[in-house]
Amino acid sequence: MNSKAEASITIDVPITREDPDTLGNIVKTGLLGNPRTLPSKLFYDERGSTLFEQICELPEYYQTRTEHQLLVTWADEIVELSGAEELVELGSGAATKTRVLLDAMTRADQLRHFVPFDVDETIVRRVSEELVQEYPGLQIHGVAGDFLVHLEHIPEGGKRLVVILGGTIGNLPTIAAEDFLTSVNTEMASGDFFLLGVQLITDPRRLEAAYNDQKGITAKFNKNILRVLRNQLGAQCDPDKFDHVARFNQEAHRIEMWLRSTQDQTIDIPDLDLSVPLNKDEEIRTELSAKYDHPLAENLLICAGFEMVKWYTDPDQLISLALAKKP
Ligand SMILES: C[S@@+](CC[C@H](N)C(=O)[O-])C[C@H]1O[C@@H](n2cnc3c(N)ncnc32)[C@H](O)[C@@H]1O
Repeated sequence: MNSKAEASITIDVPITREDPDTLGNIVKTGLLGNPRTLPSKLFYDERGSTLFEQICELPEYYQTRTEHQLLVTWADEIVELSGAEELVELGSGAATKTRVLLDAMTRADQLRHFVPFDVDETIVRRVSEELVQEYPGLQIHGVAGDFLVHLEHIPEGGKRLVVILGGTIGNLPTIAAEDFLTSVNTEMASGDFFLLGVQLITDPRRLEAAYNDQKGITAKFNKNILRVLRNQLGAQCDPDKFDHVARFNQEAHRIEMWLRSTQDQTIDIPDLDLSVPLNKDEEIRTELSAKYDHPLAENLLICAGFEMVKWYTDPDQLISLALAKKP
């Protein structure tokens, strides 16, 4: 990296200042609950982020290419409407689609700052280094943190466009999603714009196929949560003793991913003084991915304090981008 690029990157890592008991408590409560659950942010260490990037390339995973195409079609208009000079992305991951927005901001001569915010520090650092090379003069202030806890670390900026893409909002149950978007709204200034990617309710067969790919990458991603549990909390568990399960819950209009125990076994986490006996076929829920329709998503945005500006939807009605504004 050249010195000009180095001078353009700042990374905050509030996650290291998180109460060390917090994650342990969440894991303990989840594993002892009914149903048993694990928090999906635990998927994303370096390996998990790489597996998610591979998922985005899968033929079954229509979501990424559809959202990408929507951005290609509408990015110039979104950037013009927003007038933003700063892009803040929550759950930025590899920021692949983000480049479409950054390109549009460059064309409009509006690109000054980018704030990638993700729980995986390695990907925040990687993306920041890539982007200062790709966009000369871009100032990057990354945040490696939990967007449910550390939103106040978003730096003060100019006129902002805040984005959440990749169906990330669907990973939160409705009430938590509303609380989260309310907190996002609180961090924004009046007149700032917000772009939310939502995955639409569609044919359950298409949805289930997207999470049960032929190559088994989603299964590896799902089991990665147990590796992270081992690495971060010293859990004694074997990912190979679980099967990947993904099914559509029609009533709650969401895909649920589970890990199903292939045998009677125990997950031990000595540091948490926790021992979780599992029967053969017992399941742990690892992810929710809620699908929305426009009224549901609009309700979420309005309850969080936003005003709807415009919907962008692909011709097959699979993905929408909701452009909203803080009044
Ligand atoms: C579904 S992926 C989407 C990635 C990317 N935005 C895209 O559209 O492809 C979710 C992203 O959110 C991040 N993430 C999940 N939970 C998080 C949390 N609580 N705080 C911050 N980032 C989180 C993950 O690390 C991951 O990069």
